[in-house]
Amino acid sequence: MDSLVSLSKRRGFVYPASDIYGGLANSWDYGPLGSIMKENIKNEWLKEFVFSRDDMILIDSAIIQNSSVWDASGHLTKFSDPMVECLDCHKRFRADNLIEDKLGIDVDGRSAEEIDKIINENNIKCPITAGVLSQVKNFNLMFNTKLGPVDVSSDTVYLRPETCQGIFTNFDNIIKSTRLKLPFGVAQIGKSFRNEITPGNFIFRTLEFEQMEIEYFTKEDNADKDFEYWLNLFEEWYKKIGIKKENLKKVELNETQRAHYSKRTVDIYFNYPFGFKELQSFANRSDYDLTSHSNLSGKKLHYFDEESKTNIVPFVIEPSVGLGRLFLAILSNGYKEEIIGNDKRIVLSLSHRIAPYQLAIFPLIGKDEKINNISQNLYSNLRWKYRCTYDSTGSIGKRYRRQDEIGTPLCITIDNDSSIDNTVTIRDRDSMEQVRVNIDNINEYIDKCFL
Ligand code: GAP
Repeated sequence: MDSLVSLSKRRGFVYPASDIYGGLANSWDYGPLGSIMKENIKNEWLKEFVFSRDDMILIDSAIIQNSSVWDASGHLTKFSDPMVECLDCHKRFRADNLIEDKLGIDVDGRSAEEIDKIINENNIKCPITAGVLSQVKNFNLMFNTKLGPVDVSSDTVYLRPETCQGIFTNFDNIIKSTRLKLPFGVAQIGKSFRNEITPGNFIFRTLEFEQMEIEYFTKEDNADKDFEYWLNLFEEWYKKIGIKKENLKKVELNETQRAHYSKRTVDIYFNYPFGFKELQSFANRSDYDLTSHSNLSGKKLHYFDEESKTNIVPFVIEPSVGLGRLFLAILSNGYKEEIIGNDKRIVLSLSHRIAPYQLAIFPLIGKDEKINNISQNLYSNLRWKYRCTYDSTGSIGKRYRRQDEIGTPLCITIDNDSSIDNTVTIRDRDSMEQVRVNIDNINEYIDKCFL
């Protein structure tokens, strides 16, 4: 993990936020390479699950919604974690995590009183000072703020803790403004906010994060089948973007572990440097959200089923993944240190779909006019089709190392022979093999590598 954090800062993937002021706990900024990589992940997700399908659409709803949304969704009353405070150091902890660490038992779904009893009976103390812990309290994870210049409690609004509610509240608008027929899905990518008691592990658990969520509306009878369908689809996608199969596992949650809205939940865990932890969750949210919003708003959120000639409230299958968690999984999945001769080589084996740059162009001798012209021409042409970077400084070995570290799959070197026989050297990041390719065939060669 230290290597990933250090590489991220050194090469501009992720910086600590407010760094010059000593940072802010668990806030991170994405740097130049991180921002490109984040966009690449989003684009791959959109291509795979939205743009290549007729049954999917995309929306972008507001972060701040009418507070009734969070009333109907259950977040105002149920979206909390059990919290304790050390009476000595006043640090706060998640009581369920302390119990799991000490006793290896899962207390999901138990009341604050029950959890308090377990803490007392097992003499669980502050992990830092061994001090006595306060009574367990349920701590709501939503950030709130006030709307307008006057501080009146009725004006309290919340930063959304999940993006999907904006999809449910727009269900009727979507049905009326599109000609979608069941089953269909609505996708959304956007920021969510949770006032986590114990954030941490770099960008794994943060207070502000992006979610990529799909709400797939289907008939109740098809919900189980569609659940499996989406689970398989994502497993295939993870393979496609280069995540190793052995780094993923599925975890079925039992009734007490599931969120209040879920009839079935399967989490996909990734093998992070700190062990297997949740990357993505799949839930069968049933008709919970549409029904709750219908009840509270008084607006009918249903779908007219031509087959049965009745109004039905569809079920919802929800694949939801945090972009930061996927970003960290991809970095960790690709990170390698190799010893080559007396040298350490750091390599990020990123898929060409995700790597910030796909190609690096190196003029072997930066000051040679002929080499420079060919290199610049190639760079200008290739950058319209591929993500390219240009590096004309330092030895070729150093240039390779710089690109290996940021995951660039192919490096193209232009040398003296290039002006004679119109060929360049293309070097593969992982195998380090080099081949000579004619410039006229370069697109064809790259496309073959990027299948
Ligand atoms: N709409 C359903 C939902 O929000 P969730 O399991 O609470 O379900 C979905 O969150 C995903 O969002 C998680 O699997 C994780 O990838 C990401 N996520 C949740 N909380 C997060 C946090 N504090 N920091 C980063 N990612 C988070």
